[in-house]
Amino acid sequence: MLGGTVGDMSLPLHEIAEANHRILDPFTDAQLMEVGEVARVKQGTRVLDLACGKGEMLCRWAQDFGSRGVGVDISEVFVTAARSRAEKLGVADWVVIEHGDAQTFEPEPEAFDIASCVGATWIGNGVAGTIDLLRRAITSDGLLLIGEPYWREPPSPEAERALGDDVAAVNAEFSDLPGLVDRFNAAGTDLVEFVLADEHSWDRYVAAQWWTLRQWLDSHPGDPLTPDVQTFLDDSQREYLSYQRRYLGWGVFVLRPSR
Ligand SMILES: C[S@@+](CC[C@H](N)C(=O)[O-])C[C@H]1O[C@@H](n2cnc3c(N)ncnc32)[C@H](O)[C@@H]1O
Repeated sequence: MLGGTVGDMSLPLHEIAEANHRILDPFTDAQLMEVGEVARVKQGTRVLDLACGKGEMLCRWAQDFGSRGVGVDISEVFVTAARSRAEKLGVADWVVIEHGDAQTFEPEPEAFDIASCVGATWIGNGVAGTIDLLRRAITSDGLLLIGEPYWREPPSPEAERALGDDVAAVNAEFSDLPGLVDRFNAAGTDLVEFVLADEHSWDRYVAAQWWTLRQWLDSHPGDPLTPDVQTFLDDSQREYLSYQRRYLGWGVFVLRPSR
């Protein structure tokens, strides 16, 4: 779900593919906690997470660092999972998960120390718009976290030819790492830290979905969603193996509004 605009039509497919995932991005639990450490999350830090998925970041940070969180997500399936996770980890008093559209969510101004959008910058029509959405929620010395893909290197001509429009669409949207930082700067923020995914953590995110999808197909013969689920699986493997694994990076970038 990281490679660009994800409309509502594909949400059920992601809910199926990520049924066994807690983290809906290419990070392991260790990398998720590392972001919390580099962003200096501590007892009482107030975190807003737009498009929070299953709320794993808020719940694990509350559990280990003692932070408090508000998460918003449009998927009822993910919101239900996030609330259960908060209960299971004993942090339901500190983590509130709201079901809703992050594009229209209106946080209390300056009520948070950190505001994040990890893997869903389409909610603000891109990086700059998402930074604008988040910025109003934080205090004057608050931080923003953006999880975003970038090109590790441009896709080869062979990959571009093989994937045609897929790569062209992704190409139009993503930058290389310095270009991404330029976009953060142009949106009025400075990069203060980052944690990057690696090939292993990407594999855990993407390849782990394939077996889940096959199990779903095996157990839902004749389901109206079957053709879409099969295409989703085929496309995921083709795109990941043809270009994403080699060329696409991903990270969570810790930003501070420019002073
Ligand atoms: C790639 S997942 C990332 C989830 C979570 N941040 C994580 O890293 O585990 C993208 C998330 O965006 C959510 N989403 C998509 N459009 C949204 C919207 N308009 N408002 C709120 N959530 C949205 C999806 O339901 C999904 O949970």
